[in-house]
Amino acid sequence: MPTNATLKIDDKEYPLPVMIGSEGEKAVDTRALRQASGYIAYDQGYGNTGSCESQITYLDGDNGILRHRGYPIDQLAHYSDFVETAYLVIYGELPNATKRKEFGQLLRKNAAVEMQMQKILEGFPTSASPMAMLSALVAALPAYYPELATNNFEKDLKNFDLAAAIAISKIRTFVAMIYRYQKGLPFVFPKQELPFCDNFLHMMFSEPYKDHVPVPEVAKALNLVLLLHADHEQNCSTSTVRMVGSSQANLFTSMSAGISALSGPLHGGANVAVMQMLQSIHDEGDDGSRFIAAAKSGSKTNRLMGFGHAVYRNFDPRAKIIGDACDTVLTRLGIDDPLLHIAKNLEQAALKDDYFVSRKLYPNVDFYSGIIMRAVGIPMNMFTTMFAIGRAPGYIANWKEVASNPKGRIYRPRQIYVGPVKRDYVPMSNRA
Ligand code: CMC
Repeated sequence: MPTNATLKIDDKEYPLPVMIGSEGEKAVDTRALRQASGYIAYDQGYGNTGSCESQITYLDGDNGILRHRGYPIDQLAHYSDFVETAYLVIYGELPNATKRKEFGQLLRKNAAVEMQMQKILEGFPTSASPMAMLSALVAALPAYYPELATNNFEKDLKNFDLAAAIAISKIRTFVAMIYRYQKGLPFVFPKQELPFCDNFLHMMFSEPYKDHVPVPEVAKALNLVLLLHADHEQNCSTSTVRMVGSSQANLFTSMSAGISALSGPLHGGANVAVMQMLQSIHDEGDDGSRFIAAAKSGSKTNRLMGFGHAVYRNFDPRAKIIGDACDTVLTRLGIDDPLLHIAKNLEQAALKDDYFVSRKLYPNVDFYSGIIMRAVGIPMNMFTTMFAIGRAPGYIANWKEVASNPKGRIYRPRQIYVGPVKRDYVPMSNRA
């Protein structure tokens, strides 16, 4: 393997160190380039830029590989559950029985939300976006736990285990509260004895004097959806968490910023957009060809939602798992969802179409996750908040890497300025 690369600009050569990751990923280290040559590396959208070294997730988009801490996603999906995978993502190892129990207990102990925080939620219009409410509630956590959120890495890392458990557990409770608030239903308190997903379903769907008894298949399906979202390397929202965290902002503040980034339709909001698309195909009795034709126009606003990925140029391994799970879950629940048939037909049509084939556009995780969530009883406007519950471990693990890195520096990209060159101030009376 080479240890150095050389960049030649005019007649001058600049040696640049080469970095190799543990899975053979290659990079040219351009950190010293500007100082040596006056040039910066330009990479709009950072699509070809490594912003950090990370031990959390390995993703090979060309070969459809996703591993957390070395463990393949299909094995985790098959053998693990969301809480265990969250532990793995955050702490780097699968927990033994004692550690798993302790982690579960910490999550259970921190599930309830303070009365005052409930008032914050009640200050929002019921029509507010669930993601806006969720990021605001997470942004408010430092006000309630100032000792865990001092904006000092050393101090915040001492209380990391508790802060992480609060974040994971309360984000789930917030989501259930937001759902009930929007429906005008009273909040339901978490139950200490319930497992993570069952507790969520209880807080979502229990009625006064009638506790919701989750169907095991439903809790299992929910576990799978959350697990498949646990981390995904340097995506838009996780990079946001790292960027905000790099300013020495505490875990909760950094996560709130990540949740805001997740709300966009090209990222976490895609699962909603997919369902809207499938629903409108269903309502119009169309076969989907109108959406395929529009998507091929090249316009960003007409993309086939749930298709394509910024890094996978092969299938998204999560989509394969969730697509297969869709059939099993719906069959077990006795649901025949016409949107699943539409999704499958659309997938087949797109995979035969040269536009999608030549651009290597395959279904991503969001193409089928909405159908499972719908079967579980989650309304469409809450889908992205479900993604946020799932992604919390990834945000936490990435924040921890930033906070624990003694050589870390504040994220501060540069730019190529293309605006007006220097000009003199024009008084108002002389302006056109
Ligand atoms: N429908 C139609 N054309 C597409 C699509 C799509 N969904 N995605 C990409 N393309 C085209 C794009 O227009 C470009 O065409 P051309 O080469 O003619 O200019 C080509 O495919 C290459 O795309 P790209 O610009 O390299 O894609 P990107 O990396 O900028 O965007 C993406 C990745 C995920 C934002 C995009 O594929 C997309 O908008 N997909 C739909 C939204 C979606 O499903 N997002 C969820 C992503 S998975 C969840 C997550 O991790 O956030």
